This record gives sequence, C-alpha cells and structure tokens, in this order.
Amino acid sequence: MAHEQDENKVPEALVSNEITTLTAAVKDESGTAILTGGRVMQIVKEAEKSNTLSKDFFDLQIQFAIHAQRITGLELGDVLLRYTCLYRRFSLPTPPDAQNPEWKHFVAQIKSSESLGELAYNYYLGTIKKGPETPLPCFSYHYEWPGTICLHFANNDKSEKGPLSDEQMPERIAELRGIFTEVKKWYPEATTVKSPPSWIHAMPKMLRLFPSGPTQNLEPVNNVLDATSTWGQFLNRKKEVRKDVAQAFLEKIQKAKTEDELMASFPSQAFTGQCDIDVMYKFFGVA
Ligand SMILES: CC(C)(COP(=O)(O)OP(=O)(O)OC[C@H]1O[C@@H](n2cnc3c(N)ncnc32)[C@H](O)[C@@H]1OP(=O)(O)O)[C@@H](O)C(=O)NCCC(=O)NCCS
Repeated sequence: MAHEQDENKVPEALVSNEITTLTAAVKDESGTAILTGGRVMQIVKEAEKSNTLSKDFFDLQIQFAIHAQRITGLELGDVLLRYTCLYRRFSLPTPPDAQNPEWKHFVAQIKSSESLGELAYNYYLGTIKKGPETPLPCFSYHYEWPGTICLHFANNDKSEKGPLSDEQMPERIAELRGIFTEVKKWYPEATTVKSPPSWIHAMPKMLRLFPSGPTQNLEPVNNVLDATSTWGQFLNRKKEVRKDVAQAFLEKIQKAKTEDELMASFPSQAFTGQCDIDVMYKFFGVA
C-alpha cells in the first residue's frame, strides 16, 4: 500500500533528540533497566489492558457474536471464543482455549445470565490487573528466531492528543529509534522487520511513521477476530467506542446473510507487512 511519505529518512521535524530505549522504559527503583526485548513487549501490552474499557466495547462484540451464531449455527460460547476478543480481555493465557477452566466457568454462566453484556463486562472488571506506574511506550517488539523483529503497538499514550497525533509524533519516533538502536546492538544478526496482522496499518497516521517501501509491501489478510488487532478499530484514544463507526457496523451485521458478508462488515481490513531491517536502520538514523 502506498502513502505520501517517500523519503528514506524520518523527517527531521518529527524527531525528538531523546532516544527512548525499551529497556530504559522499565526500570527498577534505582533507575537500572531491568527488562529487555520480548519481556518488555509483554509488559507494554499488559499496560494497555490495564486501562479500563467501556461496556459498549463488550456489547458490540457480543452483538457480532450473536449474528455469527445466527449464520454459522455454532454454540454461543464457541463464537464468543472465535469471533470476539473477550478471552484476551479476561487476561486468560493465550492462545484462546475452549478448555481453559476460567473460560469454561464464564461460558457455563451464559445460559442463566439475564444480560450477556453485564456478565462479560463484570467478568472483565474482575480480571483486569493494575498496570505499572512507569510510563510505557506504545511501540514494542519481540525477536523471532532466526532473524525477525516483530513490531507491536499498544495505546499507552497518556496525552489528550492521542498516540498518533501530530503532537505525539516525536515520542513515537523516539520509541522506534530506540527499538532499532537496541535491536542493532543485541540482535545484530536480525535481517527482517515484520508487522503482525492488524487493522492499524490501514491508518495513514500510523503509516507515516514508517518508510514508504515497507508500507507499499503491506499485504491484506483476514482479520484476526479474537484480538484487539481487529476490534481496536472501534476504539478512540480514550478507549471509548467510536459510536458512528460502531453504528454503521451494527447495521451491516444485522443485514449479513453469509459469513463473508459478516466479515466484510468491518470498516478496516487487517494488513501485514515485512521489510529488510536495513531500511529501518536508515530511516531512523541508526548507525
Ligand atoms: C489507535 C487509536 C489510538 C486511534 O484513536 P484516535 O487517535 O482517537 O483516532 P481518531 O478516531 O481520532 O482517528 C485519528 C485519525 O485516523 C483516522 N482513522 C481512524 N480510523 C481509521 C481507519 N480505520 N482507517 C483510516 N483512517 C482512520 C481518523 O479519521 C483520524 O484522521 P484525522 O485526524 O485526519 O481526522 C485507537 O483506535 C486505539 O487505541 N485502538 C486500540 C489499540 C489497537 O487497535 N491496537 C491494535 C494493535 S495491533
């Protein structure tokens, strides 16, 4: 997918002088970096989960599951597992597993529950954990042997402006420069950077953070329905449901007669992409 930015280097105006390394982001009380790479990625993702979501977000997914059940004929518990991110929002160990005892406990209560939305939301509220006090970055990564860096994004931005706003661009770029500085030092053998499937690659405001080459290579893939990488498109920066987008989606799923029509109701499709790591080193000025 093409976008407007054709430079090989990040525009100077967007660069902050400070390089935020991921290790620096998670320090102990004495200020010493305590965690690195993939472990930081876990914490960054957990921190995003600790920001309480609204019940609307759960209601929206449940509506989708009810229509998925109407079309597929599957049990409601199964469609909730496969087509919503409830399992992950309950902070259960991934990948989603129908036999997980806590998930089974939740599913067992569905039939007797007067409001599935209330049940799911209360279950979620009971399982969210308090995140770390330390401000955490939005970008993180994990290393996939034998040479791939997988980038992740989570909204841990505490500003009013939003993580992808013009004002927060220097922060995001500093995070990305920090990542690639760290990667070059610790994983010099890495050759490739990969973006796991997500709706977020459809956002021009995300794409402008990266060089145009890799973003031109983005591949459309099926939405991953049990994850935020699909459902996150209904949230705004404050973790509220984007009402107009959700309303248009609800109207479409009510009319859907096939699974394909149901899947086509999402406003954004997921994309994935990968590129040579040297392109990123050059773009972010990592020598
Ligand atoms: C990413 C996120 C912070 C964006 O929220 P936000 O900043 O409030 O977004 P806004 O609704 O203000 O949209 C910002 C801009 O992107 C545009 N936009 C939003 N969704 C879009 C989409 N699906 N496709 C294209 N453009 C989109 C908006 O039109 C807006 O453009 P403008 O500023 O020129 O008007 C929010 O969706 C979020 O936190 N989602 C959950 C995290 C997530 O999805 N993670 C997935 C990780 S794999």
